[in-house]
Amino acid sequence: MTTEEELLARLKPGCICKGIKLHRILKAIEEGAINFEQIAEITGIGGGSCGSKRCRKKVAALLQEKGLL
Ligand code: FES
Repeated sequence: MTTEEELLARLKPGCICKGIKLHRILKAIEEGAINFEQIAEITGIGGGSCGSKRCRKKVAALLQEKGLL
């Protein structure tokens, strides 16, 4: 991630209901997480009011973007 990408990711939401920023998800992927369950365990997403519906889609799109899906 470039510095600019990281700055933007620090501002963008990853999990709206728990206030977890996008950069936490991207960092988990960079550190080797390869599916939603692993990312959820590392970041804490998935346990909020969306019931994983919103964040699971976001994670799937990120994993696909990085060629992991
Ligand atoms: S967006 Fe927060 S748990 Fe899914």
